[in-house]
Amino acid sequence: MDFYEVVNNRRTVRDFSQKQVPEDSLSRILQAAFKAPTNDHLRQWEIVVLQERESIENALEQVREKAGLQQNALASRPLDDFQRRMYADAVPKQYRMLSQSGCLLLPFYRQNGDLLHPVALQSLNGFASIWCCIEHILLAAAAEGLGCAIRIPVGEEWKFVARQVGAPEGYVMPCYIAVGYPAEDAIRPAQEPLELVRKIHKEKW
Ligand SMILES: Cc1cc2nc3c(=O)[nH]c(=O)nc-3n(C[C@H](O)[C@H](O)[C@H](O)COP(=O)(O)O)c2cc1C
Repeated sequence: MDFYEVVNNRRTVRDFSQKQVPEDSLSRILQAAFKAPTNDHLRQWEIVVLQERESIENALEQVREKAGLQQNALASRPLDDFQRRMYADAVPKQYRMLSQSGCLLLPFYRQNGDLLHPVALQSLNGFASIWCCIEHILLAAAAEGLGCAIRIPVGEEWKFVARQVGAPEGYVMPCYIAVGYPAEDAIRPAQEPLELVRKIHKEKW
């Protein structure tokens, strides 16, 4: 696929088919992940790949329990129409989307210093870099004809997952990524069209 076709086709998918992710596709996606830019060329990243039902369900234990509670919390947020459609799709599927595809990627990065109390912008470099890695995964998956769903772990949920998969101390999991073939009737809430001229400022804002 042409690069811009990939960029334009990449959409969050929260409804997956039963079809397994081929190993060669997964391998190319993981190679792409490690091509992402990173601060000081550190690549202090590790990716746990879960494909066995038992490992996936163990990792998702807290998501299963929290899914219902989150629905109430999100109901009170002020939303525009595009956000409302996105939340209506996303909120009830937080557990199912991660469990369903049968291929769950758990990216970890090494956190140097206190993530929640950074002393300067560069203290966040590790966190910023892993998101470059995550975007490579999303784009590579799109190039393979696959879709991804992301979930940000709520509160200390990520620590539970880290323990379940045996991640060493000092590593943080910023999100879960489910990878799979979109179901035939997969919903893709529309992206709100943007007028670039209102966002791009030439020479001066
Ligand atoms: C930092 C970040 C956090 C996100 N958190 C979640 C999440 O917790 N659950 C979810 O279903 N989707 C999550 N998403 C996906 C967004 O909802 C999605 O990207 C957005 O609605 C735009 O849709 P699109 O990806 O199809 O363009 C997240 C995306 C990003 C980049």
